[in-house]
Amino acid sequence: MKLFVYHTPELTPTEHLPECAVVVDVLRATTTMATVLASGGEAVQVFSDLDLLIKTSESWAMEKRLRAGERGGAKVPGFDLGNSPLDCVPEKVQGRRLFISTTNGTRALQRVQQAETLITAAFVNRNTVVKYLLEHRPENVWIVASGWEGSFSLEDTACAGAIADSIVQQSNLSANDIAGNDEVISSIALYTQWQDNLVELFHHASHGKRLLNLAGNEDIKYCAQTDILEILPIQQDPGVLKSYN
Ligand code: MLT
Repeated sequence: MKLFVYHTPELTPTEHLPECAVVVDVLRATTTMATVLASGGEAVQVFSDLDLLIKTSESWAMEKRLRAGERGGAKVPGFDLGNSPLDCVPEKVQGRRLFISTTNGTRALQRVQQAETLITAAFVNRNTVVKYLLEHRPENVWIVASGWEGSFSLEDTACAGAIADSIVQQSNLSANDIAGNDEVISSIALYTQWQDNLVELFHHASHGKRLLNLAGNEDIKYCAQTDILEILPIQQDPGVLKSYN
């Protein structure tokens, strides 16, 4: 198993795809997706276009759907939800499909939508992702950080490092054995430096600062929790993620 970490979707190779792609958007899309499914949501369906999201979700009964829209960190007017994982409690999401469009997470997912296996990761479900990778040992794994509008983001690359570091800790593989590119080693270094203080790391991050202004510290504190959800969002149909079991 070789891991490749890409700091943004734009940095992924365009001429081929891996056996397994892991999309990361810690603040907050992939944290929200894991939380929705852990709270009993039926599925998460991802869109880049808001009009298409509205049109597709119209064919679902009102009580079976939720529309979540985020642009620039803020809720899209008229949608049921923004992108806060704290809104995704069982009373709201149980049995419903979340139709969602976000600024960066959506773009990262679409970039690798055709990969044989597509899963999503955040700190909250890191260990479930690691377990899946160690059990299935795909030959090539791309960890695609969503970043922010084409730029590097601390929190996503730190999460990529958390996955890589945990694979090393839970197997007989060394960092050298699994590293398909230099970014794997640097992401492990970033994670191990900050693993005991992820909230502070997120406060240094540009999107962390944006969120502090928009949504306060509660979302950040939630997204910084590691291994709290035993859930693996996995793509079943293009753009549709369900819980792996
Ligand atoms: C995104 O996809 O850009 C985000 O998850 C932004 C956010 O809602 O915090």
